[in-house]
Amino acid sequence: MRIFSGIKPTGPLHVGSYAGAISQWLAFQKDPASEGFFCVVDLHALTNNPSPEQLRRDIMETAAGYLAFGLHDARFPIFIQSHVPAHSELTWVLSTLAGVGELERMTQFKDKAGYAEILKARDRVTQRLEQTIEELDLLQAGSMGAHHRLVRDQHKEVIDGYRSLKEELDNLHALLTARDSRVGAGLLNYPVFMAADILLYDTDVVPVGEDQLQHVELARTLARRFNSRYGETFKLPRAKLVKGASRIMSLQDPKKKMSKSLGSAHYVGIFEPADIVRKKIMSAVTDSGSDIKYDPATKPALSNLITLMGVVTGKSASNIEHEYAHVGYAAFKEKLAEAFLAFFESVRRKKAELDKDPHHVLFELKAGAEKAREITNKKLRDAQYKIGLV
Ligand code: AMP
Ligand code: TRP
Repeated sequence: MRIFSGIKPTGPLHVGSYAGAISQWLAFQKDPASEGFFCVVDLHALTNNPSPEQLRRDIMETAAGYLAFGLHDARFPIFIQSHVPAHSELTWVLSTLAGVGELERMTQFKDKAGYAEILKARDRVTQRLEQTIEELDLLQAGSMGAHHRLVRDQHKEVIDGYRSLKEELDNLHALLTARDSRVGAGLLNYPVFMAADILLYDTDVVPVGEDQLQHVELARTLARRFNSRYGETFKLPRAKLVKGASRIMSLQDPKKKMSKSLGSAHYVGIFEPADIVRKKIMSAVTDSGSDIKYDPATKPALSNLITLMGVVTGKSASNIEHEYAHVGYAAFKEKLAEAFLAFFESVRRKKAELDKDPHHVLFELKAGAEKAREITNKKLRDAQYKIGLV
């Protein structure tokens, strides 16, 4: 079974990526019936507009992280996406099969482009404007009788409200226009590139976090479209998620997914100094009450911490609830920080060693890229031939 997955080098590896992706990669690596590639998807990171120094640092950090986890062996090489040019070449071909509307509907695009929030705000303001017009109509009808002065005052109030809503709407419109010129085309094409990554390897399974489900679906769609037009060429991949841990939430805002882009306090990095790990976990927000209880609907923050405790101890949520039922939030967070550091201790040690030896990291990456090129050159050639390129 062929596995393919990757992580964007846009900052430190955090426990969300471990829970959703890396933990699965390690399991596949142990399974002798599986083989595949783990990629540092550096070209995807460009959509964040990093500085060259930052990008170089993040690429090496992410690769060293993979090696520290032991994610590199004969059956599972690691490599850097830009070292294998076929990824970029197939992206162009697939982009001619993808619809702009289809890409604009991707949740990640809408979130990153900032459209979702603006559009929601616009709907809210428009609705309030409509209510205001109804109120005006009512006032108009009522003004036929007596109490003229009172009605005039009420009129004025409603019209002032109308003016300020109209201003809000104009501002939102300006915001949308400004976004339009700032949102890069790379962000829109992002999932097409990801489809190329996956399809080049005849991938069966893509182990990822929940946020990538829609992108893997698109890879399937594009593969199907290519095959039906040009003949059987690409295998249809399927995503695989970790049950119960495919969406770790932010430590500061349990309504949002833990991610590097929210800011440092929102995530806890696998390789951060121990005192920072403790500080971040101790400062995680909690819910009202004091019981250690797993209930995402009423206790989203605590449920997320319980999930994290499960990730680093292997215990079920109900076992954790029993064990820590009445210790209180602070003591639970202390235990979580210690369990986190104990679980990742050996990987953290290995990573510190690798940081001193970037040549070794590069050596492994180059060896991996060579193996990847062997596979992708053949696949790309096959696709190009079928399209009619000579
Ligand atoms: P990224 O760092 O965004 O490239 O994500 C790398 C991998 O980790 C992808 O498979 C993501 O779906 C997964 N991932 C990232 N953040 C989380 C999270 N908060 N919970 C679960 N999986 C995640
Ligand atoms: N888009 C993924 C993310 O943001 C990273 C990625 C790029 C990827 N190419 C991939 C994941 C191919 C799996 C397979 O996390």
